[in-house]
Amino acid sequence: MEYFNTRRTVRQYTSQHISDEEINEMLEAAMHAPTCGSMQLYSVVVSRSDEEKAALAPAHFNQPSVTGASAVLTFCADFNRFTRWCELSGAKPGFRNLQSFISAALDAVILAQQFVTIAEMRGYGTCYLGTTAWNAPQIIDALGLPELVVPVITVTLGVPASMPQVQPRLPYKSLVHYGHYDNYTPERIGQCYDDFEQLPANKAFVDENNCQSLAQVFTDVRYPLEANEQFSKIFVEMLSKSGFFKENP
Ligand SMILES: Cc1cc2nc3c(=O)[nH]c(=O)nc-3n(C[C@H](O)[C@H](O)[C@H](O)COP(=O)(O)O)c2cc1C
Repeated sequence: MEYFNTRRTVRQYTSQHISDEEINEMLEAAMHAPTCGSMQLYSVVVSRSDEEKAALAPAHFNQPSVTGASAVLTFCADFNRFTRWCELSGAKPGFRNLQSFISAALDAVILAQQFVTIAEMRGYGTCYLGTTAWNAPQIIDALGLPELVVPVITVTLGVPASMPQVQPRLPYKSLVHYGHYDNYTPERIGQCYDDFEQLPANKAFVDENNCQSLAQVFTDVRYPLEANEQFSKIFVEMLSKSGFFKENP
């Protein structure tokens, strides 16, 4: 439990190189993760050179962990390979739909988390980049992803330059429901978030952003409605272009 209770995201890395062999070994082990119908509906693109990382950086709003990483791994939902296998085998694929995308996206995310756990347990630092789904069209271009291959999450990997503090979590009792969903009264909302709001870093967040509350930092600054709607539109268009909403021929 020690690892799980103290793990944290690492965004700054030394210049130490992690070998292709070791990355492949960790990926191969991670691929023992559960997978929908044993189909392994994912592909991983590993970016190693400065040029490859620089090509991805703008899609991740130039977060420094991209160019500073030893490797950047883009985990993609992939129904391309499986569809091709079906077509070559006289089987009629029916995967150009949202349900299939969700299955492939879940597979890719579970693989990514398994990889992160293995890498962190070896002492490496990792950082997820949710910007992958925001700017998926740019990543599709940068990596040359074909139809039915959609990037869902990115992980940066490196040797930690320093270890950040462990981030607190909400009280687990506020998040777990037994038997039925126990909906949140205002009092229970307080039990969930009061301590979180009192954390010095979060109080500073409120002041720096001239907000009235921590919740407003999330709604007005970090994840505002306009941005959520804009990136949703881009994502739905991209899914359509990637062939996930097409009728089967
Ligand atoms: C879906 C997802 C997207 C994330 N996107 C980013 C990101 O774009 N940039 C970043 O620095 N961290 C990102 N993170 C890392 C979170 O910020 C981090 O997990 C969270 O603050 C908790 O900190 P901890 O992992 O150290 O416990 C992401 C994590 C997840 C699960």
